[in-house]
Amino acid sequence: MMADRKKRITTLELVAMKERGERIAVLTAYDFLMAGLVDESGVDCVLVGDSVGQVFAGENSTLPVTLDQMIYHARAVRRGLVRALLVVDMPFLTYQVSVEEAVRNCGRVLQETGAQAVKLEGGHEEMARTIRRLVESGIPVMGHIGLTPQSVHKLGGYRLVGRTESERERLLADARRLVEAGCFSIVLEMLPRGLAGEITRSAPIPTIGIGAGPECDGQVLVLPDMLGLNEGFSPGFLKKFAELAPEVRRAVSEYVREVREGRYPGPEHSYE
Ligand code: KIV
Repeated sequence: MMADRKKRITTLELVAMKERGERIAVLTAYDFLMAGLVDESGVDCVLVGDSVGQVFAGENSTLPVTLDQMIYHARAVRRGLVRALLVVDMPFLTYQVSVEEAVRNCGRVLQETGAQAVKLEGGHEEMARTIRRLVESGIPVMGHIGLTPQSVHKLGGYRLVGRTESERERLLADARRLVEAGCFSIVLEMLPRGLAGEITRSAPIPTIGIGAGPECDGQVLVLPDMLGLNEGFSPGFLKKFAELAPEVRRAVSEYVREVREGRYPGPEHSYE
């Protein structure tokens, strides 16, 4: 499907999509070429996720990712987009230390990348205060609750969150706070589907699920995961829409064989 790429999606449009009952398709991207393909294929929102630390840089968590790295990737992605809303993850320690630092760092992301919004993890009271200040400063914020990978050591691993009554109560309160703070949407990661549905029905802003079931207003996946490039990663919620890793291996081994056997480059790939 080729999307109508004339109209640029805004944060307000994402909220309007929820009001119209239209579901929202979100994917991550980290570079110019993939961003262009994803945009052409009709995705509504592209997230430059700090998952870049894992799927691009080979780290085992998002914690080592820096603000300069996010800005570098977001600038590349921005050049590939025509229609999709561009949201950039704020990396660990760029928005937790103080409200002033958060405004400066998030403002820098909007100023230097051309992104329209940032995404911050957490929904506790301190985070809600920071988000309110960002929104007041003209910086749209996508919230993120449930499994928040920057808190992996506190959570004790990458796991489903919200199964106990206290976690459930906390997540409902976090979602309410993020709405009141002025977020334009919230990512719900690794939540039981009933709880994600409850949050979705009570929130006037779209919820974007990952491992949170079908009752959210939209869905996000990490691009290399859904393309089948990240072979070691196969959680239950993930659907691989392609199997590109074997295809890459096939193409590269064919290239190696042809170079070794002197079949590539041939006369048709040469200049007189
Ligand atoms: O970093 C990321 O890619 C994310 C998505 C999984 C929501 O936060």
